[in-house]
Amino acid sequence: MNVPHPIPYQGSKRNLASEILRYFPSKVDTLHEPFAGSAAISIAAAANKRANSFHINDLNKPLVDLWRAIVNTPDKLAKEYEILWHEQLDDPKSFYKKIRDEFNLTGRSDCFLYLLARCVKASVRYNANGEFNQSPDNRRRGTTPATMREQILGASYFLKGKTAFSSKNYRDVVLKAGASDLVYMDPPYQGVCGNHDTRYLASVQFCEFVEVLEQLNVRNIRYIVSYDGRTGGKVHGVCLPDHLELTHMELAAGRSSQATLLGRDDVTVESLYLSPALSKELIKPKMIYHFTHSEQMCLLEARA
Ligand SMILES: C[S@@+](CC[C@H](N)C(=O)[O-])C[C@H]1O[C@@H](n2cnc3c(N)ncnc32)[C@H](O)[C@@H]1O
Repeated sequence: MNVPHPIPYQGSKRNLASEILRYFPSKVDTLHEPFAGSAAISIAAAANKRANSFHINDLNKPLVDLWRAIVNTPDKLAKEYEILWHEQLDDPKSFYKKIRDEFNLTGRSDCFLYLLARCVKASVRYNANGEFNQSPDNRRRGTTPATMREQILGASYFLKGKTAFSSKNYRDVVLKAGASDLVYMDPPYQGVCGNHDTRYLASVQFCEFVEVLEQLNVRNIRYIVSYDGRTGGKVHGVCLPDHLELTHMELAAGRSSQATLLGRDDVTVESLYLSPALSKELIKPKMIYHFTHSEQMCLLEARA
């Protein structure tokens, strides 16, 4: 199925969405995405009817406002984007700067969508004052209005009437999850973020994140975490600790652009961690037998 993806966003899980959906339990009431970004997993889950309702959250408020506009007023947003896209054509470079200033003053959703479609690598960057300061990619004019309209209307079709939106710290969002829900978490990569991450508004502290996962375990919540990864032999970030009893899966995420440039065969592998409550439900062993880690992985692959 061609799943819509209206928000161009660096770090989007769009290409891995069908792989990640394979680890969803058969019944999900609400899918919570506390670090939603372009919400690739929520849209894919909605399109494939893998959850009844959705909660899109991101600390970046203008991004969540953009999501509200996409889902609730898609036609209006598509028209506004079309106007901006055509207005840029005489002088795209200075028009981008004008819209960036306008966005920093007003937070307008149509301006943000235009900036995301035109900026370098679709990557959001902010200065110390919290102003969007990413440069334009002057080789591109951004997604055409016709394609953007299709993506916006498609996302709205799948999410309208069953999606809640918020712009809170992820900690407050996971508190809302119940036993019949699923939480999908894709925090900013700690391997490259540290405290000085300019790609997002805030970064996530490793210790705090581990503490939140501990609390979710105590409450038996089903969750999936995308975290760190490695390219060839090079590991990015730190693995999540053993005491969380997560099932660690590795997804092949394709060849890194750096490796392709160097003519190497390195494949980027992304880690996916399944919570104890979720892996128990996916495996449901009928006999008392302790599976080894690799047996667990084979069982999960076979079930999907
Ligand atoms: C790696 S991106 C998620 C990408 C997403 N999976 C997708 O498919 O587009 C991480 C997101 O977390 C958000 N974020 C950073 N710190 C946060 C926090 N403390 N609470 C909630 N969201 C946060 C960022 O704004 C960013 O959009």
